[in-house]
Amino acid sequence: MKFFADTAEIAEIRELQDTGLLDGVTTNPSLVKKSGRDFLEVVKEIAAVVKGPVSAEVVATDYDGMMREADVLRKLADNIAVKVPLTIDGLKACKSLSGDGTMVNVTLCFSANQALLAAKAGASFISPFVGRLDDISQPGIELIADIRLIYDNYDFATEILVASVRNPIHVLEAAKIGADVMTAPTAVIWQLFKHPLTDNGMAAFLKDWEATGQKI
Ligand code: E4P
Repeated sequence: MKFFADTAEIAEIRELQDTGLLDGVTTNPSLVKKSGRDFLEVVKEIAAVVKGPVSAEVVATDYDGMMREADVLRKLADNIAVKVPLTIDGLKACKSLSGDGTMVNVTLCFSANQALLAAKAGASFISPFVGRLDDISQPGIELIADIRLIYDNYDFATEILVASVRNPIHVLEAAKIGADVMTAPTAVIWQLFKHPLTDNGMAAFLKDWEATGQKI
């Protein structure tokens, strides 16, 4: 499973990048607002730091506007995935862009039928939002299982990018289903490393080692 960081904070991205476990980054307009940075500048900077796909979202809502913005975004770096919303115009833009060899991430997916459409439109990634479904009492993770089944039935190459990940349980369940990618806030990714028994075990081993008086 690939790990993408869901953030526009360059310092957080660099810190995770140092682990060697970061495969890409996703941004959205809300994350850009939170960063307080210039959109094009921050996306270019992220794409220079991370080798894998960096998603940058269009904000136009019509096909022509999306195509114009996509053209600006894809020129920023070779590893940009243009993020388009799961709307009719968004899927039309997805079809055109993927036909040109541009990576496309279709976002704001909340149903398996929407994911089916995105795959037919040639999306590189489909982003189903598990956390936001949980928020309205619909089990988000069930959507991931449905999409996995449908994509496997038809051998679609579109990667399932689990988005709106809020906790390590989302990551675990998505991995058990066989999602291709998950994107999460960096705090959630750091949580994956932690277990209290690891900390306790380390402390006990170090204490006993010190008592031996030996050195390596
Ligand atoms: C990523 O591509 C999505 O925009 C993001 O995961 C949404 O997360 P949120 O529902 O926590 O805002």
